[in-house]
Amino acid sequence: MKIGIVQTHPVFGDIVRNLQTIEALINRQPADLYVLPELCTTGYQFKDREEVLELAESIPDGSSTLKLLEIARAAQAFLIAGLAERCGDKVYNSAIVVGPEGFIGRYRKAHLFGAEKNCFSPGDTPFPVYDLGSARVGVMICFDWRFPESMRTLALEGADIVAHPSNLVLPDCPQSMITRCLENRVFAITADRVGAEERVPGQTMKFIGQSQAIDPSGKILARASTDHEEILVVEINPQDARNKSINPQNNLFADRRVDLYRED
Ligand code: ACM
Repeated sequence: MKIGIVQTHPVFGDIVRNLQTIEALINRQPADLYVLPELCTTGYQFKDREEVLELAESIPDGSSTLKLLEIARAAQAFLIAGLAERCGDKVYNSAIVVGPEGFIGRYRKAHLFGAEKNCFSPGDTPFPVYDLGSARVGVMICFDWRFPESMRTLALEGADIVAHPSNLVLPDCPQSMITRCLENRVFAITADRVGAEERVPGQTMKFIGQSQAIDPSGKILARASTDHEEILVVEINPQDARNKSINPQNNLFADRRVDLYRED
């Protein structure tokens, strides 16, 4: 299975242009599944909730989802992409899953980072795992990485691959994702953005790039630059994530001591 990791540098608010860039990057390299960054059509740093309401779209009938469906059909591939979602008077930091046959699902970010709490409602969808035929793919968004329960839940739900649309600002994520993969014996595909936004004076946000693919043994299969748009393609066998044994006597799931863990 070929996975395309799409790293972009969105122009804030220019949805049409950002979708054109995404389409051009996807057209450069064939893959079966493409992972795109968080909020990849709008940019990241909203001044307030009103501004998100103006740019957010409904899912699945909003124009960004329809365009991403068209790209997926043309590429005969699955796409996972972060979008600002409008639902009634609420806005969510969401990710959609689409494929050649149509819309598959959405996830709304559970762990909002910093000023996102002023702009978005916290997610109300469980962490989802989709059976895409050749792989079971789980979805989480950016800062969800900082909560090991996110990826553990996806792994326990049967994910082979965790798709991780991101707009990373903290430097620790790329290395931490290696540990998340080791803990769960899953693949992780982090698709990040580059560039900076200073839409709130004095609050520059610099995005770290370094989109990457990690395998279930913690090996870095590919890692992108810190500063430019690009697409990387890795070829993996999703079945490699299904055996949770690390030696004849230890299985990462069977050995869990849920009787000793705290739940709340
Ligand atoms: C983040 O969650 N976008 C840092």
